[in-house]
Amino acid sequence: MPKPAVRVAVSGAAGAIGYSLLFRIAAGELLGPDQPVELRLLEVDEALGALEGTVMELQDCAFPLLAGMETGSDARRMFDGVSHALLVGAKPRGPGMERGDLLEVNGRIFGPQGEALNDAAPDDVQVTVTGNPANTNCLIAMHAARDIPNERFSALTRLDQNRAVAQLAAKTGSSVTDIHDVIIWGNHSATQYPDVTHATVHGRAARLEVGDDAWLNDVFIPTVAKRGAAIIEARGASSAASAANATIDHARDWALGTEAMVSMAVPSDGSYGVPEGLVSSFPVTVRDRAWRIVPDLTIDEFSRARIDASVAELASERDAVRALGLI
Ligand code: NAI
Repeated sequence: MPKPAVRVAVSGAAGAIGYSLLFRIAAGELLGPDQPVELRLLEVDEALGALEGTVMELQDCAFPLLAGMETGSDARRMFDGVSHALLVGAKPRGPGMERGDLLEVNGRIFGPQGEALNDAAPDDVQVTVTGNPANTNCLIAMHAARDIPNERFSALTRLDQNRAVAQLAAKTGSSVTDIHDVIIWGNHSATQYPDVTHATVHGRAARLEVGDDAWLNDVFIPTVAKRGAAIIEARGASSAASAANATIDHARDWALGTEAMVSMAVPSDGSYGVPEGLVSSFPVTVRDRAWRIVPDLTIDEFSRARIDASVAELASERDAVRALGLI
């Protein structure tokens, strides 16, 4: 007997990340090779025509695990009974748009989507926000979904973790699988702090293995934090396949559990001096579909200043959306 299908909602399904994401979910990369999935694809009305083309392609892959698809622009219908909601669709910053405008325009997307999740999804839905500004969009959706526990909301910093691991592997001539416990703290923005203090390469402290503090502090950190901009510069479009890959890594680990620590932006419980309720990136482990912030890591002065700077940015974004009445 095949398992009953699990419903997975994806917003922004006709976008660039959606095009990389949907095929991998349907191929079983999110929930495993024996778990059928039903896709619920949310888009704005103007993009539903293009989305039909993607749906035709998904059909043409004849994925054995793809048990059904529905498309639509009604968030309540699309979120009905979903176990996972991958909130990718967002409005990018347009010409002349200030940060406040960006927060507001996206708040008007993520507030109603949070309400729709509240009405239509089960209380143990796992919500992953990829659409930028991801941490604050997640905060807004979480506030709007009054009956769903806060810990069912998260935002993506896994792409930053993957980028950091790849940079360290290249620098040390090792495989990405030899690298563990790299942490992303704070906001998914240029203020994020990719932290190697606890990281190991071949089981040896990363700082010792790299042996070049100047590189770690002055090259590695900005390279990771500004990688998104470098990709836009080179490609003329923002990272899409790697963002889809990270969205799968994040949601899969949350669904199936982790062996090692991974970074997720989650509502703070006050750990590591991050004000309670801010959606900030932390090292977490996952068991039984529940994440737990890794406790008791030592934070040196260098790390403290960088975590504080990114958290200050998150607090100012929270204050801005509060002033706009979005939370
Ligand atoms: P895209 O512009 O190609 O696609 C976005 C899609 O979202 C469009 O099809 C649009 O119609 C849809 N959309 C807009 N408003 C919507 C709404 N209210 N409901 C449903 N769908 C809606 O953008 P792309 O490249 O797919 O990126 C999506 C988001 O992911 C952007 O905000 C981008 O900045 C962000 N991103 C996040 C990363 C992360 O690591 N957290 C990494 C890379 C991108």
